[in-house]
Amino acid sequence: MTTEEIPMDARTLDDTTVGTVSLGDRTVGRLGFGAMRVSSARNAEGKRDRAEAVRLCRRAYERGVRFFDTADIYGLGESEEIIAEALHPYPDDLVIGTKAGFRPARMDPGHATMPPSGRPENIRVQAEKSLTALRLDCLPVYQVHVPDPSVPYADTLGAFADLQQEGKVAHIGVCNVSEAQLELARSMFPVVSVQNRYNASDRAFESVLAACEAAGIPFLPWQPIAVQPNLAGRTVAEVAAEMGVLPQQVALAWLFRRSPLMLPIPGTSKVAHLDDNIDGAWVSLSDEDYGRIDRAAAL
Ligand SMILES: NC(=O)c1ccc[n+]([C@@H]2O[C@H](COP(=O)([O-])OP(=O)(O)OC[C@H]3O[C@@H](n4cnc5c(N)ncnc54)[C@H](OP(=O)(O)O)[C@@H]3O)[C@@H](O)[C@H]2O)c1
Repeated sequence: MTTEEIPMDARTLDDTTVGTVSLGDRTVGRLGFGAMRVSSARNAEGKRDRAEAVRLCRRAYERGVRFFDTADIYGLGESEEIIAEALHPYPDDLVIGTKAGFRPARMDPGHATMPPSGRPENIRVQAEKSLTALRLDCLPVYQVHVPDPSVPYADTLGAFADLQQEGKVAHIGVCNVSEAQLELARSMFPVVSVQNRYNASDRAFESVLAACEAAGIPFLPWQPIAVQPNLAGRTVAEVAAEMGVLPQQVALAWLFRRSPLMLPIPGTSKVAHLDDNIDGAWVSLSDEDYGRIDRAAAL
C-alpha cells in the first residue's frame, strides 16, 4: 500500500479532524466508510471493476478512515472479500464492522428488500462465511443487521452472544432497532454501536439517538448523505451553495455537529466521491447554518 497516488493537497484524517469514538476497546475517527457499494465500482467503460473497488478501499484507509462498515449480503460476500483483498493483513488501527441477519440471496428485481433471517442457525453459518471472506479468526465488530419479526429478537441476539463467548466475535452492535430492542440487547451483552437510518432530512430515529447518547453508545447513521428533497434536504443544498461546498459535505458536517457520538459511514462506488466525502470532514457549519437545517427538519 502506498500513499503516492494521493495528491499533495489531499489531507489525511487524524484523531483531531472530527474527533474519535470508542467501539469497545477500539478507538476510531468519526468518519467511517460504508462499503456496501464497493462491489458495484465500475471502470470508464461502465463495467464492474474489481481493481477499482480495491483501490477505493485502499484510498479510504490511506486518507485516514479507520472504520469500515460491510455486511455478508453486500454483493453476497463480495464487499468483505474486496476489503480483505485491499487491506489484509489488516493494519492494527483498522476496525471492520460486518453484519448478519438477512437471508443472503440474489435480490428479486420485483422486491425492494431482502427477507430477514434472524434464526440462530443462519447467524452461525453467516459468521463463518464472514470470517472466511474477511480472512479473520475473530470479527472485530459484528452487527445484528435487522430484527426478524418471525424470530424472537432475544434468540437472534443470543446467537451473537454465543459467538462472542466462543471468541469468534470481539464486539457486538445492533442495527435498525427501536429503543426497546436496544434495551433488550443491552441486557444481554455490551452494545458497542447502533446503526439506524438517520440524516438531516430523515430523523425518524431521533429517540434511538437520544438513547445512545444517554448510554454513551456510538451511533452510526446509515444513508448519512442521501438526503431527501424535503425542506431539510433543500436547506442542506442551499447552505452548500452559499458555502461553495457540496451538499454531501454539508450533510456530513451537520451530522458531526449533531452529536459527538455520531460516526457517519457514507458509501460510494467512486474514488472521486470518496475524496469529496473525506474532504467534507474539514467543512464546518456556522451556528446559524446548523440551526437553519435543524429547524427545517423540525417543521
Ligand atoms: N444497517 C443497515 O441496515 C444499512 C442499510 C443501508 C446501508 N448501510 C450502510 O450505510 C452505508 C451508507 O449508506 P448508503 O450507501 O445507502 O447511503 P449514503 O452513503 O448516504 O449515500 C450513498 C449514495 O450517495 C452517492 N454518493 C456518495 N458520495 C457522493 C458524493 N460525494 N457526491 C455525489 N454522490 C455521492 C452514492 O453514489 P456513487 O456510488 O455514485 O458515489 C450513493 O448513491 C452503506 O455503505 C452501508 O455500509 C447500512
